[in-house]
Amino acid sequence: MASVAKCAATSFRDRVNTQEGLVDRAIFSEDEVYRVELDKIFARAWLFMCHASQLPEKGDFFQSFMGEERVIVTRSRSGEFEVLLNACRHRGALVCRANAGNAPSFTCAYHGWTYDLSGNLIGVPGLTDLYEKSLDRDAWGLRKAAQVSSYRGFIFATLDPEAPPLDEFLGEAGKAMIDKLADYGDVEVVPGIIRHRLKANWKIGVENDQDYYHVGISHASLLDAYGMSRSEVHTRYWQNNEGPSVMGEYGHTTDLMTGHYHATIFPHMSMLTDLLQVVIVRHPKGPREMEMWYFTFVDKNASAEDRKMAIDRNNSRLGPTGMVEQDDGENWEFCTIGANSHAMRDVPFNYQMGLGAGTTGDSGEVGYPLYTGPRTTEEYARWRLKCWAEWMDADSWPDLQAHHSKPGAK
Ligand code: FES
Ligand code: FE
Repeated sequence: MASVAKCAATSFRDRVNTQEGLVDRAIFSEDEVYRVELDKIFARAWLFMCHASQLPEKGDFFQSFMGEERVIVTRSRSGEFEVLLNACRHRGALVCRANAGNAPSFTCAYHGWTYDLSGNLIGVPGLTDLYEKSLDRDAWGLRKAAQVSSYRGFIFATLDPEAPPLDEFLGEAGKAMIDKLADYGDVEVVPGIIRHRLKANWKIGVENDQDYYHVGISHASLLDAYGMSRSEVHTRYWQNNEGPSVMGEYGHTTDLMTGHYHATIFPHMSMLTDLLQVVIVRHPKGPREMEMWYFTFVDKNASAEDRKMAIDRNNSRLGPTGMVEQDDGENWEFCTIGANSHAMRDVPFNYQMGLGAGTTGDSGEVGYPLYTGPRTTEEYARWRLKCWAEWMDADSWPDLQAHHSKPGAK
């Protein structure tokens, strides 16, 4: 049987054999792979931070993560969004402990260094008595994300000064994915983010976005509760489901299934816009652990009743005890254990569903290529992992730009 390369010295492209649908299971569990991901993906890509509706006033802030780095997204005095690393320049302690709020400045709890909303060091206890002239305050502000930008109120940041503009990273396909949620109404995020930890690799969570294979199996009890028969589920997800999907540049993917819309902006942001209007982010917390965050979106003009219904709907499905995520989360944890198997380390995971079944071509209409083929397929996962390997093998943004696969390219 054909296999995949195992040696850490080989390229990541060799460990993800999308031609034959074979993927080295260790990429979902290995410490060294994860260390490279933090460097080449999470310190390089544009990452979703939060939505502008969460920071309407000057001084508003929201804590997020870039990889494992804690960051504070602020609305500065000039009204700009800034992304500051939440690590004091003195000894690295947190300068902000609240998840969100409004503050004129951030004071480190250890020795009291104080930073303004743009990260400038504005206060040092004992500056005159203890430092005399040895500390140049201007040189000791908080580290910032290299670039911050937003698209339709969705705020992104990157740690890489060489990253191309957000517009180019998202591409027409990525922007269309965000448009779908932004067009839902005059949207805002309701206060409070659903968060929970899972002992699962972040990529396994992301992959589930367009996994329609599992729905009728993992969520059988939920579908029973909805009164949906097995044959309805099979017809909906496994038969007659040819249609256009998107395998976007840099690994963004979405299906365009009627009544469903699950989109993924590489590496770890997803949007559901069907019954639920949600952004999901999987913050990595190690090779075998992640924290899931769910941002609930509502139309600002919705009635109090509709707003409550949207919130209840999300909580009852996507919270840690939600009817959907309970089923999924347990599976992802077991997948991660399986990925970490020592006895099966030479046996790849199978990604052969729909192999060679569809084609990606220029649609000419929407401004980005469409994939035409079955919607219940592992083509999304194969495409995302192929892109993942290209990110992991690239030495820099210019290298990635020069050597990544273009959707539909022959
Ligand atoms: Fe922050 Fe010392 S660690 S002031
Ligand atoms: Fe699921």
